[in-house]
Amino acid sequence: MQVSVGFLAVACVLSALRAGEADELQYPPSRIAVVGAGIGGSSAAYFLRQKYGKHIQIDVFEKGEVGGRLATVDMEGHQYEAGGSIVHPLNLHMKTFVKELGLPVKSPGDSRLGIYNGEELVFHESDWFLINLLKMLWNYGFNFLRMYMWVEDMLDKFMRIYRYQTFDYSFSSTESLLHAMGGNDFSTKLNVTIEETMHKAGFSQKFVDDIVSATMRVNYCQGVDINGFVGAVSLSCLDSGLWAVEGGNKLVCSGLIYASKAQLIQGTVTSVQEKVRPMKSGGTVKLYELSYESSTGPQMEMYDIVIIATPLSKGVSDIKFVDFNPPIQNFKNYQQVVATFVHGQINASFFGCAQPCDLSDVLTTNNRKLFFNSIGAVSPVKSEAKSSKPVNHKVWKIFSVEPLAKDQLNLLFESYHAVSVKNWLAYPQYNPPEKMPPIILHDRIYYLNSIELAASAMEMSAISAKNIALLSHHRWYRKTDRIDQEDLTERLKSEL
Ligand SMILES: Cc1cc2nc3c(=O)[nH]c(=O)nc-3n(C[C@H](O)[C@H](O)[C@H](O)COP(=O)(O)OP(=O)(O)OC[C@H]3O[C@@H](n4cnc5c(N)ncnc54)[C@H](O)[C@@H]3O)c2cc1C
Ligand SMILES: *[C@@H]1O[C@H](CO)[C@@H](O)[C@H](O)[C@H]1NC(C)=O
Ligand SMILES: *[C@@H]1O[C@H](CO)[C@@H](O)[C@H](O)[C@H]1NC(C)=O
Repeated sequence: MQVSVGFLAVACVLSALRAGEADELQYPPSRIAVVGAGIGGSSAAYFLRQKYGKHIQIDVFEKGEVGGRLATVDMEGHQYEAGGSIVHPLNLHMKTFVKELGLPVKSPGDSRLGIYNGEELVFHESDWFLINLLKMLWNYGFNFLRMYMWVEDMLDKFMRIYRYQTFDYSFSSTESLLHAMGGNDFSTKLNVTIEETMHKAGFSQKFVDDIVSATMRVNYCQGVDINGFVGAVSLSCLDSGLWAVEGGNKLVCSGLIYASKAQLIQGTVTSVQEKVRPMKSGGTVKLYELSYESSTGPQMEMYDIVIIATPLSKGVSDIKFVDFNPPIQNFKNYQQVVATFVHGQINASFFGCAQPCDLSDVLTTNNRKLFFNSIGAVSPVKSEAKSSKPVNHKVWKIFSVEPLAKDQLNLLFESYHAVSVKNWLAYPQYNPPEKMPPIILHDRIYYLNSIELAASAMEMSAISAKNIALLSHHRWYRKTDRIDQEDLTERLKSEL
């Protein structure tokens, strides 16, 4: 008898405690800040509005242009994608955005691929499907076929995240998000290089040296020592059906901010600090004070929740987190990438290509002598502007780690008449094994770009944005049964 009375008493105290906790947090948050209006910040605004409803105030801070790393450069009155340019057909968030916003899309068009090793073309695609197939088989055996299957298997796992998110599940770390998608297979990929990953999967060294290396160099301006996950994401770009937004990918960002009815604040966020404020109803509330510089001088605002949607990295965002314990500091350095646009005639003999050279995309293998990573013909973001240029006088986009000197351009081109340059701190310098930065930086401060340490891509930012909209909501209302759940794939089978 005594035992059960005691038990009852404990149960009462526990439920009273829980009620007390719930009371304290029953009020909805009223203001959320999003720092950064790239695809991460703008899709966060969109998902936050979906999740929190119409009454919450969402402020999006942007120090530069809406779109961030989705940006165009101007060449002779036409706009070209200078940052994030292509989207995979199975990137479902990006697909939903363009559909909801009514934005037309286009495919990047046919390309004729070559791979240059610093002396000659080790691979040169021809007009004929059969010839290409034979060349691939001759050079690489069944490695290409195997790679498509390998990437498909990875995509199958990757696609699980959309189901989890539809059912409201969220993850408190990038590791647990990736583990939920692909189990130990994905977790291990974060810890080893793409080269090791592909060796283990049975790919030949020649395939890794030529094809894999060239793909990493064009997509991430780094070598085959980047982590296996970002490496696999990178290889998925060899799939067909890639697309881009007509008029420029950045239109997705401005569209999402508009659709979310968020307030866009042009200004540079300089610091974040936690403040305790008295409430009207008595008691206190903890808020975050955001200081920022705008054209009208320094200002500040208070928020319940803050979402950092820009890399916290040297030279990128420069936000001070004042008096946090443990301190919040910069994470990984970002890789410099220079995009140089040139309107001119390519030097066929430089590539050892027969005249007239029909190449439109040249990738490179890892050769220290090479001063560029890739060169490819590009068309303006608006389709109608395409036709006016004579053949052989295309606009080329060159990616390099260092800015190109004049004599280097003179090697690559027989002649040219316009140059435009965009310098990026583009994506993390991948260096496995490494720990992912936290998603939860502090009680109610979230870091959207943690996911970039796994892989940097538009869709990754959108996935992280939705995850944080869900996670912040569940944590606010203490719905722990929707955070970091194991075996979701099995469990969701029965939820349908
Ligand atoms: C050259 C290049 C090619 C790429 N190619 C592809 C591709 O083909 N496909 C693909 O999917 N991805 C590609 N990517 C990667 C993709 O562009 C990025 O992963 C994605 O755009 C990141 O979006 P984000 O919103 O997370 O960050 P960002 O776009 O960097 O947005 C952050 C925003 O925050 C703002 N900001 C920073 N600090 C502050 C501050 N203190 N106060 C206020 N605002 C601030 C910045 O101005 C910026 O607008 C490429 C990237 C580059 C650079
Ligand atoms: C990856 O490496 C980290 C340490 O860098 C370790 O904590 C983790 O367990 C490793 N994961 C796997 C799946 O090997
Ligand atoms: C073209 O490439 C060849 C071979 O590298 C080089 O000798 C020549 O100077 C380059 N430039 C022009 C304008 O032909």
